[in-house]
Amino acid sequence: MWTLTGVFLWAQAQKAPDTIVFKAKMGDVTYTHKKHVDAVKGDCKACHDKLFPQSKAPINFKAAMHKKAEAAKSSCAACHVAGGTSFASKGNCQKCHEKGGAKG
Ligand code: HEC
Ligand code: HEC
Ligand code: HEC
Repeated sequence: MWTLTGVFLWAQAQKAPDTIVFKAKMGDVTYTHKKHVDAVKGDCKACHDKLFPQSKAPINFKAAMHKKAEAAKSSCAACHVAGGTSFASKGNCQKCHEKGGAKG
């Protein structure tokens, strides 16, 4: 059972998606996987498996409006945090959360 699951996940890992949509009441978030891979010059290890296990499991970013992840520098907030390589949550909700259905 364990082995079969492992093979299944490995087979899935062959294909990296261009975008991944995270559903949120605040407005869905379209994550640009492809752009992010370019931003780290193709280094998959910048995110896998430490930050994201490629498992479709919850990414654990939303707690306390991202403040928990920012405090722990985990999930998206490993980079999206004050002093990180990209913009933090504060004041930038609409850079990630779409408003009224259109990606802004
Ligand atoms: C770097 C991108 C990013 C920014 C900036 C951002 N969010 Fe999010 N937000 C997400 C993602 C991705 C999720 C889904 C996380 C998950 O499933 O764990 C989410 C989820 C949420 C949720 C949970 C919604 C639900 O349906 O449970 C809330 C509330 C939220 N964000 C509020 C905010 C607020 C308020 C701001 C601005 C202060 C903000 N977010 C800025 C990416 C972002
Ligand atoms: C900047 C962060 C980041 C980088 C770099 C990155 N990924 Fe991802 N990747 C994610 C996130 C976030 C997810 C969604 C959460 C999850 O499945 O763990 C994901 C999911 C995946 C998935 C599963 C998709 C699905 O439908 O479940 C595959 C396959 C994947 N990445 C492959 C790659 C490959 C190959 C590379 C290097 C070329 C790479 N990733 C680099 C963030 C990244
Ligand atoms: C390894 C570092 C890293 C991680 C992890 C990461 N990002 Fe980013 N992100 C960046 C960089 C670098 C940029 C480009 C620089 C900028 O625009 O500030 C960026 C840009 C963005 C943008 C604006 C450009 C675009 O692609 O539309 C959004 C939205 C975004 N990230 C959302 C997310 C979400 C959601 C997550 C978690 C699922 C996440 N990021 C995880 C580094 C990261």
